[in-house]
Amino acid sequence: MDPKAPNAEYRSTPQYAEYQRENFWKPNTGEVPPFNTDPAKLEELAKTKLTQNGWFYASSNAGQSYTHTANRQAFYRHRIIPRMLVDTNKRDTRTSIFGHDVAAPIGIAPIGINKIYHPQGELPVAKVAGELNIPYCLSTAGSTPIETVADANGQGSPRFYQLYMPHDDELTINLLERAWNSGFDVCILTVDTWQLGWRHDDVAIGNYAFYRGMGADLGLSDKVFQKRLAEARIDPEKEPERACAMWIDSIWHGRAHSWEKIPWVIEQWKRISNGRPFCLKGIQSVQDAKKAVEVGCDGIVVSNHAGRQVDGAIASLDALEEIVDAVGSQTYVMFDSGVRGGADVFKALALGAKFVFVGRLWIWGLSIMGEPGVRHVMKSLLADFDILMNVAGFQSVEQIDRSAIESYPKSYNLPTETSKL
Ligand code: GLV
Repeated sequence: MDPKAPNAEYRSTPQYAEYQRENFWKPNTGEVPPFNTDPAKLEELAKTKLTQNGWFYASSNAGQSYTHTANRQAFYRHRIIPRMLVDTNKRDTRTSIFGHDVAAPIGIAPIGINKIYHPQGELPVAKVAGELNIPYCLSTAGSTPIETVADANGQGSPRFYQLYMPHDDELTINLLERAWNSGFDVCILTVDTWQLGWRHDDVAIGNYAFYRGMGADLGLSDKVFQKRLAEARIDPEKEPERACAMWIDSIWHGRAHSWEKIPWVIEQWKRISNGRPFCLKGIQSVQDAKKAVEVGCDGIVVSNHAGRQVDGAIASLDALEEIVDAVGSQTYVMFDSGVRGGADVFKALALGAKFVFVGRLWIWGLSIMGEPGVRHVMKSLLADFDILMNVAGFQSVEQIDRSAIESYPKSYNLPTETSKL
């Protein structure tokens, strides 16, 4: 593409498409692009860089990976209808989420314990999100204290806090207060993970870093949790395994919360944050989506935890369509699970999602090369989406609706191989 195109003057978002040119140009200056972002190749490369534990934890799905496979298959049944000779020179990937203007409808999904993928853990991910002006969502199972992640994220992008809710109200409140005081201004409660789904690979090698004394940083840096450790007479310095286990057992406790608890946590968050948005993540049924609206949630993330929780479940993208029909005009509907490229983002938007979160892609980038790896993956995804808008004839995110896709019936075959992609 022509780097001197006058389009740049008209656009309010960076010309992410130029990242393609930057990579094409590299051989002239003796450089090579960092790595291939084709999702299959990206995953393959990440596997070679990770320990067996890191690889298993990141790539594991529930059971036989059928939900994961369904997530991927569902994208294939929707096809984009490109439009030609549209003036896309002034196109814009920009959108807004909960009052924040952001560069694109693409955000960093919350993923725990990043230190098993890279020694710097969550920090490079938060930093790159800030740089690119896309939302960063921190997991309660993260391996870096909330306050340190906020510093790395800086002022360039909004940050959201994903809550795994303990059965210890004082601890929950303290986590929410820490998040709010550190500039995380949307709370997203995950409701599909009271405990991890049955993931064969992880169980087979006892792969749970927390029980090895790693990854409890949010807890170990929390004054209420420190009190709980003292009450249990556990010194984290002397007994890191017991301390980290106690933390993870308080957030992935295996003890379900039910709808009755939701008004309480909404009330706490609204009080602490002066009324900022509260959302549920993990919604897959229309009934639950309606219930979320009824109890006063400001948004929902239609997600099946990337197929890691319930095996043999419906595709998250299939759930999205019906949920948008039912509650799309009453609440802010977001999406994740199975997104591997710009076209997938586009399809989720076309089906009515207002925002799309990605997870495994940036995990692979982080595993391969740390900060430059996350940057390369996310810039490539933004470029892919921007270029798609250009070549498919869309000028703005708002123009992407159901008329932009053709959808085929759900008729999924038994997968012939269990590719994790
Ligand atoms: C936690 O969120 C996991 O999927 O392991």
